[in-house]
Amino acid sequence: MTKNTVILGTQWGDEGKGKLVDALAKDFDIVARSTGGSNAGHTIVADGREYVFHLLPSGMLYPDTIGVVGNGTVVNLPSLLAEIDELESSGLSVESRVKISDRAHILFDYHKEIDAKLEELKGGDKVGTTKQGIGPCYTDKAMRIGIQVGELKDVDELRAKVERNCNFHNNTLGLNLDADAELQKILDVRERVLPLIIDTRIWLNEEIANGKRVLFEGAQAHHLDIDHGTYPYVTSSAVTVGGVCTGLGVAPKHIGNVIGIMKAYTTRVGGGPFATELDNELGETIRANGHEYGATTKRPRRTGWLDAVMVRESVIINGIDEINMTKLDVLTGLPQIRVLTSDGYKDFEGWTEDISKIREFEELPINAQRYVLAVEEMIGAKISSIGVGADREALIMR
Ligand code: GDP
Ligand code: IMO
Ligand code: MG
Repeated sequence: MTKNTVILGTQWGDEGKGKLVDALAKDFDIVARSTGGSNAGHTIVADGREYVFHLLPSGMLYPDTIGVVGNGTVVNLPSLLAEIDELESSGLSVESRVKISDRAHILFDYHKEIDAKLEELKGGDKVGTTKQGIGPCYTDKAMRIGIQVGELKDVDELRAKVERNCNFHNNTLGLNLDADAELQKILDVRERVLPLIIDTRIWLNEEIANGKRVLFEGAQAHHLDIDHGTYPYVTSSAVTVGGVCTGLGVAPKHIGNVIGIMKAYTTRVGGGPFATELDNELGETIRANGHEYGATTKRPRRTGWLDAVMVRESVIINGIDEINMTKLDVLTGLPQIRVLTSDGYKDFEGWTEDISKIREFEELPINAQRYVLAVEEMIGAKISSIGVGADREALIMR
């Protein structure tokens, strides 16, 4: 029987979570996002088309899948509707399948302005955020001045709070936020959003009790987690396994399986330490072969060798049961492949054969098999699937 499953990034994001969510979603009734916002960019390539999901759960490409935007997320409502519109323009019926938590926090456009301002103030120490307003929205939440999606119901109250918050930020940061304009952008979408709002916590628990299966779609990744990541070069929410429970109001006993997503090498967008970074021609080759440019910001991603020590940490802390290794095909043609282990670097011989059409592990070139098996040993978790291309079908199940 399919168990409720969590999918989490084990590195610094963009491991290919969206692709596995899409591949598995056909066996689930519900796909739910527990944390983050439009900082995420999850790409799916299906039937010759590319789809990028930011706030909506990937997995909504299947016609009956329900998508939940949980209480732990931060939601820019106009962006969410634009995302729905874009999917609907490709012929999918989406809006009736979206449920937004009444406790999710509204991310206003002014949060993006604050994000930019804070980065500017940090100068050389800037985080390199996606400028989607994520940190400032979670800051308002933690300061207990945040505004929840459920508060759309009372417009007078909403107006008062938007005015209060804009005044507050203008006074503390010397900004010029326009409360009327901010409120208007929300009122413009209010009628359309209201029918999508429910207490997703109660609904989800009822569905689980009725035997419905849930796929929990992680965003960002372990080493961007506010507690477990490379602080302060992290995002502002709990994106590790515990965040699934708090971000959706689901108890640990309802999580049956945790799958970690690990690129066959490492990438990072934004600032912060990167032990195995290849700031050279080889790094550029990997960037070009892997099309390593941000799905949200289009920034070139920093590239480097696999760091098995950091993935091992994610495996331990999230109780990861199995790993999906992605983008093995990108390493094709490199004469030598390197991995950072707790004993220093280890080198592996590469392969030159095109592996993108292979669907059986035993048919991979022997050096590719050796690489996978050695990494499995180093990270301490079974590599149960291997990505050999961006397409939905380009997956080896072991
Ligand atoms: P996510 O944020 O973890 O969902 O990952 P992104 O979508 O930001 O980045 C992963 C990129 O790699 C996307 O462009 C995917 O289409 C692509 N991708 C995923 N798996 C594979 C794979 O196995 N091989 C190749 N070549 N590309 C892949
Ligand atoms: P997905 O879900 C890669 C990074 C940013 C920055 C830091 C903080 O597609 O894997 P934020 O805007 O969250 O305040 O930025 O976190 N970051 C990501 N990097 N993939 C993501 O999401 C990311 N979401 C945030 O680049 O370094
Ligand atoms: Mg991404």
